Amino acid sequence: MKARQDPSRAVGHLGLLGGAPHARRPGGYLETMDSATIRERFLSFFGERDHMRIPSSSLVPDDPTLLLTNAGMIQFKPYFSGEQRPPSRRAITVQKCFRTPDIDEVGKTTRHLTFFEMLGNFSFGDYYKADACPWGWELVTERWGVDPDRLWVTIFETDDEARAIWIDGVGVRPERIVPRSREHNFWDMGVAGPCGPSSEIFVDLGDAFGEPSKYGPGEDEARYVEIYNLVFMQNNCNAAIEPVAELPQKNIDTGAGLERTAFVLQNASSIYDTDLLLGMVHTAEDLTQRTYGRDARTDMSLRVLADHGRGTAFLIADGVLPSNKERGYVLRRVMRRAVRHARLLGRAEPVLPALVDSAITLMGDAYPELEGSRDLIVEVAAREEERFGAALKQGVTLLETGIADTQSSGAPSLPGEVAFRLHDTFGFPVELTTELAGEAGVPVDVAGFESLMAGQRARARAARTTEHAEPRRDLFEPLLEEHGATDFLGYEHLITHARIIGIFDGAEGVPAASEGDEVDIVLDRTAFYAEGGGQVGDRGVIQNTSGAAAVTDTRRFVPGLTAHDVTMRSGELKVGDEVEAIADPVWRLGSQRAHTATHILHWILQNRLGEHARQAGSLVEPGRLRFDFSHFDALGDAQVADVSAELQERVSIDDPVRAFETSLDFAKSIGAMAIFGEKYGDFVRVVEVGAYSKELCGGTHVPHTSSVGVVVVTGESSVGANLRRIEALVGHEGLHYLERRAATLERAAGLLKTSPDEVAERVERLLTTQKDMERRLAEVERAAAAAEAATLAHSAVELDGSRLVVARRDEGVDALRSLAQMLKGRLGSSVIVFGTASSGKANLVGAVSKDLTALGLSARDLLAPGAALLGGGAGGKPELAVSGGPSSDRLSDAMEAVERAARDALLAK
Ligand code: SER
Repeated sequence: MKARQDPSRAVGHLGLLGGAPHARRPGGYLETMDSATIRERFLSFFGERDHMRIPSSSLVPDDPTLLLTNAGMIQFKPYFSGEQRPPSRRAITVQKCFRTPDIDEVGKTTRHLTFFEMLGNFSFGDYYKADACPWGWELVTERWGVDPDRLWVTIFETDDEARAIWIDGVGVRPERIVPRSREHNFWDMGVAGPCGPSSEIFVDLGDAFGEPSKYGPGEDEARYVEIYNLVFMQNNCNAAIEPVAELPQKNIDTGAGLERTAFVLQNASSIYDTDLLLGMVHTAEDLTQRTYGRDARTDMSLRVLADHGRGTAFLIADGVLPSNKERGYVLRRVMRRAVRHARLLGRAEPVLPALVDSAITLMGDAYPELEGSRDLIVEVAAREEERFGAALKQGVTLLETGIADTQSSGAPSLPGEVAFRLHDTFGFPVELTTELAGEAGVPVDVAGFESLMAGQRARARAARTTEHAEPRRDLFEPLLEEHGATDFLGYEHLITHARIIGIFDGAEGVPAASEGDEVDIVLDRTAFYAEGGGQVGDRGVIQNTSGAAAVTDTRRFVPGLTAHDVTMRSGELKVGDEVEAIADPVWRLGSQRAHTATHILHWILQNRLGEHARQAGSLVEPGRLRFDFSHFDALGDAQVADVSAELQERVSIDDPVRAFETSLDFAKSIGAMAIFGEKYGDFVRVVEVGAYSKELCGGTHVPHTSSVGVVVVTGESSVGANLRRIEALVGHEGLHYLERRAATLERAAGLLKTSPDEVAERVERLLTTQKDMERRLAEVERAAAAAEAATLAHSAVELDGSRLVVARRDEGVDALRSLAQMLKGRLGSSVIVFGTASSGKANLVGAVSKDLTALGLSARDLLAPGAALLGGGAGGKPELAVSGGPSSDRLSDAMEAVERAARDALLAK
């Protein structure tokens, strides 16, 4: 859908629509500047200062610790630390960003967005504060033309250097410089990584946005808005987001939200009134038949639609699909919130497909990935809306009842169970419930909700866990402290000599284990692979001359420490014993085959379906693999067959499978796939299949793909919204599967007296013949029924101008019902009664013609005395009724009773 070109609604005029709650800002700039010019002036300003233009990176960051790209610097992380060399030490970008903390604010305010574009100039160990501050000032005042008198600057409270540069180097008046604390003027990514003190340039929007303040942005961020943020990237933050170290070099990371800048430079009354968002607002108006700028509540919903529609299109284009986890959940929340606001505005038909379509049209030139995925984006939007739309209404009813109950009972909050039910049955993200209840002034017991969710997860886990009792984690920690991590030798060896450093019987450490005991043994070194990355743990034996244990599984209850689940077969093993630990080679090779096949499958799916087809979970065990991935649709038989064929083809090529250790950053730079949510250290292991698949993986693999042997995809199914599962059999299991299939085919061929090659054709012929016969049989049955009806019509008794048929026919109720109808048609004014009995149950079927029902006769009433005798009740309509009961031995009496009732009724009419 194209945005309307309505000149009366051009930028800057919207606040004049009348009755608007928007404050209209007085002018103050020489010109208003469209967003293309803002972008262009920024790029040329820094281009002239030798900055290299780098394209925006994906919204899905190449960083497993981060949900979504939330700033321009994300793609440059390794350049700030100096670990990797940038292509140029000065760079500029226009970066797609998505911020999640404020989703619920979006729409309510005139400034919040989820998706936005960020302009940024960067220095990687090149220029620093003394250049960055004056350049930022020059950009804002000269290229963008903001009156310097309107500007304020904030600095980190201890940053005297920045203060001096602003005053002496730039000429900012000291009273316009506001020192602020860590909370405001120290920038981090929200996760571990580079961070640093910041300094921002703010613009005073004028009196229409509030009273002036002596402290400017130090007190008020509505009248004073940030337009340009400079981060002096000089520290590294730990996981607790505390700056712990200095980076080896000093860097500059700046950011200016394009929409925010347009809001200021276009003299607009809100971010939504800029040329960047107005097109989307118009689409939302068109879809809902509402006008923006007349009513605050309507405006809020229109803004939600505008922003969320854009965000949805961009997230899907970068491979995110709606789900209940991680970034898929962010997308789902945004989509469902938009649908709800459309319904609030009275739009019952779908909105998301049209909204995303419009976003693609409006922004497709600058972001070709949108155009490239148009069909996919629209399709995903349509399906999600369909999925949620149906449940929304019922959910809202449930919620309204919950809110009313809460209010009338005086309870402090909406019970967690209501939020849980809304989530579980109606797909309401809890944030949506909170927002809706909040509108009615009712808080939600989110803690109660969370605990119900945790309970559900625990039940699901319990259903999955094996019988072997889990030892307590805290038992293992002292061992880890004393002996360090288990030395894993299993990439090269299957057999090791080792020492037993601990034995645990579930609840506690024990000195020894003897025949029959089921315990966990910890060794100082092992070749046993501990379950991880989807690959099952190894099996085998641990033994010495005094005892032997069968290892049934190998796991890590605490990171770094491998525990062997064993059953003692003979003798005794003690802590301190020297033992031989032998991993079962057949079991291990089976796992390796399946694991390598899984990597190849992952690559094929990404290659065929797109980047969104990412691994969501996997199980790799000897002979079998199960691979879950994000995708919005079933693959279909042909596609599954193609994937299976390519898998076998790639396996058959004798590609080497190599593994090497390297830094996380290097691994990412060569495109190694990381699994979201997995924790990786600075050093990682990369597994490479041929020259195509590269994954971060600690698992074990075959050395050459041909060792996988046979791999056959046996099924493709859904395991959740937008989550598909492929199952395959590998090695001998794959071969046996094919053999079984072949044998079944042979058997079928034998039965059909033909060769396997001819089976399909023969079956097709048989099916055609069968259809033909069914058709003929139906004809015969129809004719027989007609004949039957004729015979019965003959037996009809005439009573006062109407006819009565009472007959016993031991047929199914359905057949009798149609026979009665047919007979009624034939006889005209009539009453028809059939009785039938089979296996301890009897039924009566009664039919009465229309002229008689008009006189008050009713099949239901006529059957009633009979039904009572059969021990059942009567039901049905006056024209046609069926009743029945267990006393089949009384069927004749029942029929007589009905006949009497019918006669009386016909004679009395
Ligand atoms: N990283 C900083 C921000 O996002 C500056 O780009 O605001």
